Amino acid sequence: MATDARIERLREYFVDELSWGWGHQARAVFSFLLDAAEDCRGGAVLDAGAGHQRYRPFFDDECLYLTLEHPAGIDHKRMGAIDYDLLGELDGDIPLADGCLHGVVNTSVLEHLRHPERFLAEAHRILRPGGRLYTHVPFTYPEHEEPFDFQRPTSYALRSWLAEAGFVDVEIVPDSSNLTAAVSFVEDALRWDLGDTGHHGEHRRLSELTAPVLAELRRVGADLVGPGTRFPVGWLAVASVPGTLGPAEAGSRSDFLARYGRRAEPVGELCQPSTVDGFDGFTPTASTTSSSMWIRPDASADRTTSTRSRL
Ligand SMILES: C[S@@+](CC[C@H](N)C(=O)[O-])C[C@H]1O[C@@H](n2cnc3c(N)ncnc32)[C@H](O)[C@@H]1O
Repeated sequence: MATDARIERLREYFVDELSWGWGHQARAVFSFLLDAAEDCRGGAVLDAGAGHQRYRPFFDDECLYLTLEHPAGIDHKRMGAIDYDLLGELDGDIPLADGCLHGVVNTSVLEHLRHPERFLAEAHRILRPGGRLYTHVPFTYPEHEEPFDFQRPTSYALRSWLAEAGFVDVEIVPDSSNLTAAVSFVEDALRWDLGDTGHHGEHRRLSELTAPVLAELRRVGADLVGPGTRFPVGWLAVASVPGTLGPAEAGSRSDFLARYGRRAEPVGELCQPSTVDGFDGFTPTASTTSSSMWIRPDASADRTTSTRSRL
């Protein structure tokens, strides 16, 4: 059970350092992460498509937190200084043995996978019986990390993908109200349609005119998440592998990887098998030329500086 002090420390980190604020969407994502960490206590959890590992503090004290990234993503997002346990392609072959994890956490990644069903099948394979997948995926969020942005699944699509992969006890909830999503769209549309196209005067005039109304709509919308929610910012999904989770026994990071790590197929030219005998992860070559095939520098980042939380 997480202590009050730990929850408060995580809350401060989440609100202040990750800039999530504390509206409904933030609270929903926060509980989702706390639950995931608690469910995985003592076992191993894979942050699949970990990026800057912003949610690591939720897991570090509770379980063995493992990370996987795409080598080209590391190059292009300049994440070379960050350590990852595994390099590979989520919608290829995940380099872990069958049935070794308590949890797979996957936040703001599914939309970037060209083959999401392939990833879900892999997540199911590497989870233990009773293990869980925790996915946060945008539904009404602008295109980002183009051109590697492939879908915004409806809750029905997500449910059907999860069922097809063999998951049971699927729970999918909206992370925000319709109003929260709508307000962000109006603000973004004004900026992109007017500000970014040189209509600065018109942008300023309409922004000033709408600001008080949008602020009020945002305030009211912060707590209106319910059955009428049809276009939230995203979905929070939890799904289980059938069975009962046995006792936790993750052990140390090196023992776990030596026991359950598998050699992955090299990903393009970027991923080189380690020369160490036995599994020891993969080392990316920092080749910016070949990695440009995969993820462009995040040119969309400037465009999306809005009141939205970064999904
Ligand atoms: C929007 S970021 C989210 C990062 C992190 N999960 C978070 O919530 O902060 C998407 C991440 O998924 C990674 N990614 C995209 N496609 C991938 C793939 N096919 N295999 C592995 N990682 C992938 C990218 O490199 C990027 O770091």
